[in-house]
Amino acid sequence: MSAAQQFTIRPARVSDAAALARIYNVSVLHSVATFQTSHETETRRREWLLTRSTFHPAFVAETLDGAVMGWGALSPYCLNGAWSHTVEDSIYLDAIAQRQGLGARLLARLITTARTVGHRIILARIVAGHSASIGLHAKLGFSEVGRLRNVGYKFDQWHDVVYMQLDLGVPPAMHPKTSSEKSFCAGGKHEGSSHTDTPPILR
Ligand SMILES: CC(C)(COP(=O)(O)OP(=O)(O)OC[C@H]1O[C@@H](n2cnc3c(N)ncnc32)[C@H](O)[C@@H]1OP(=O)(O)O)[C@@H](O)C(=O)NCCC(=O)NCCS
Repeated sequence: MSAAQQFTIRPARVSDAAALARIYNVSVLHSVATFQTSHETETRRREWLLTRSTFHPAFVAETLDGAVMGWGALSPYCLNGAWSHTVEDSIYLDAIAQRQGLGARLLARLITTARTVGHRIILARIVAGHSASIGLHAKLGFSEVGRLRNVGYKFDQWHDVVYMQLDLGVPPAMHPKTSSEKSFCAGGKHEGSSHTDTPPILR
């Protein structure tokens, strides 16, 4: 059994909120992997979990004795109706679970799910120079499609963001989406908030 196979991947539950926040806060507080700068609370993560759905799911990776060591999710990129087949992914692992193939397993699960529910595009917004995340996405077939310069300011430095994209092709059956069209887009990586946060307008 490979190291990554020692983890089970299952849909996230609201009761996983504390574990998700704990794992995510390492990146919030100590890295530029996320541009969130405020400490993530269990309450906010619980609210975020309650927004998960078939189209925008979250999964966790847990050890055989039930310890959550990582999570991955698909979130709307923009809430305007025409974007409904485009999602962005997020993956965060506990440090001791990294570099064992688990990120690749979680991302593969997200890709399979995206294809199953009829999404076409998965986007990843990754801080420039984050070789682990860029390498992970490249390994699973994503390619770089753009770069935003100096859009992030964290730890007294400006940061570029690399956009990577995976095109799953035209969905065999176009699923009617249930969410009503909103007049704004979800900007930023809102791992710490529901996608009803006030975001920047995309034109
Ligand atoms: C980014 C992250 C999800 C990668 O997951 P992982 O389980 O460590 O990655 P895997 O072991 O599945 O590796 C898959 C591929 O990613 C790349 N990769 C992973 N870690 C790497 C590293 N430290 N340096 C360079 N490439 C790396 C490699 O291409 C690797 O393929 P290989 O094993 O054939 O070389 C993980 O490091 C993590 O959770 N980091 C902290 C949170 C974070 O940065 N999330 C991403 C936000 S955009």
